[in-house]
Amino acid sequence: MITLGIDTSCDDTSAAVLHGEREILSNIVSSQDDVHRRYGGVVPELASRSHLQQIIPVIRQALEQAYIKLSDVDLVAVTCGPGLVGSLLVGLSAAKGICFTTGKPLVGVNHLRGHMESIFVSHPKPRLPAISLVVSGGHTELHLVSVGQSARTLGRARDDAAGEAFDKVAKRLGLGYPGGPVVEQAARGGREDAWPFRPASMSDGSLDFSFSGLKSAVVRAVAEKPSLLDPAEEEARRDLMASFQWAAIRSLLRNTLMACKEQNARSVFVSGGVSANSLLRERFTQACSERNVEVYFPDRGLTSDNGAMIAAAGVKQFTRKGPHDLSLDAVSKLKLTNDGWERP
Ligand code: KG4
Ligand code: ZN
Repeated sequence: MITLGIDTSCDDTSAAVLHGEREILSNIVSSQDDVHRRYGGVVPELASRSHLQQIIPVIRQALEQAYIKLSDVDLVAVTCGPGLVGSLLVGLSAAKGICFTTGKPLVGVNHLRGHMESIFVSHPKPRLPAISLVVSGGHTELHLVSVGQSARTLGRARDDAAGEAFDKVAKRLGLGYPGGPVVEQAARGGREDAWPFRPASMSDGSLDFSFSGLKSAVVRAVAEKPSLLDPAEEEARRDLMASFQWAAIRSLLRNTLMACKEQNARSVFVSGGVSANSLLRERFTQACSERNVEVYFPDRGLTSDNGAMIAAAGVKQFTRKGPHDLSLDAVSKLKLTNDGWERP
């Protein structure tokens, strides 16, 4: 089975060709970082316009790099939510156009399911049940993944997603965009305990996350000590970034470990853009090994948004449930449901 996977949920235009469930023949990602950098965040209108310009060349490149023609494709898998609706519509319309003209089946994939699936692409037989943490610029969600790959939501961000907090903090410090990699770089060698940032905990004992308090604490620190905005104050900025980064990761780690214990999970999956963070990988690996729990991360090329993870999720979904029809719509707040079949 050859699957063409398309993702345009946010600010990356991506198309990939997958053979079977795991063999990536191509995975093209056209990043819009240069478009959004000057705004320090994604501008939805610019994102959809840029997707429009990129979608056909990106799909063409994915087919070329896989040495296949459109007629060789057996299935078209496309993200239909969650995400920016104007962005989603570009990928979805392209996918529908291909399916309409070629008669190929269409399958709409939940973007979060795609991130989760990136674990299975990199590690075919992970230990289950698992606690899956999807941590990106738009989402921070904990799910219980069981045999058969059903997913039950255990917790999610009530305000900013973790990646969003990295992006906003980077913007405030004038470090650039996207924030995650530049904050990670700026924090290197800094003291994690220099600032007393504490991970937010929910008074109702839920496994939800909150990152806006942490972000505001950094903003307050800068307001109280404006010299932190001076790039020459390297050491003080390093300490601030290291303290912020560790507080954010500690919050992700704490809730994940709590979920793991409550659910008696045998492993932890961490996926999404923030899972590229080296400190996060180090601390999760260490904590999980102390608890005899396996931890899995996607291969580096699969952490941020990409078409291969959508193709991989699409193949499995198609095998279980068959195709969608061409009336499939984009749903910006699409939820992951129990049975793995995505509905608004
Ligand atoms: O999964 P993704 O590419 O797109 C969404 O679905 O949102 O994630 C992008 C997010 C951005 O917020 C970016 O700052 C963050 O992932 N990110 C990181 C790192 N690399 C990317 N956050 C922390 N550390 C990193 N190394
Ligand atoms: Zn994503």
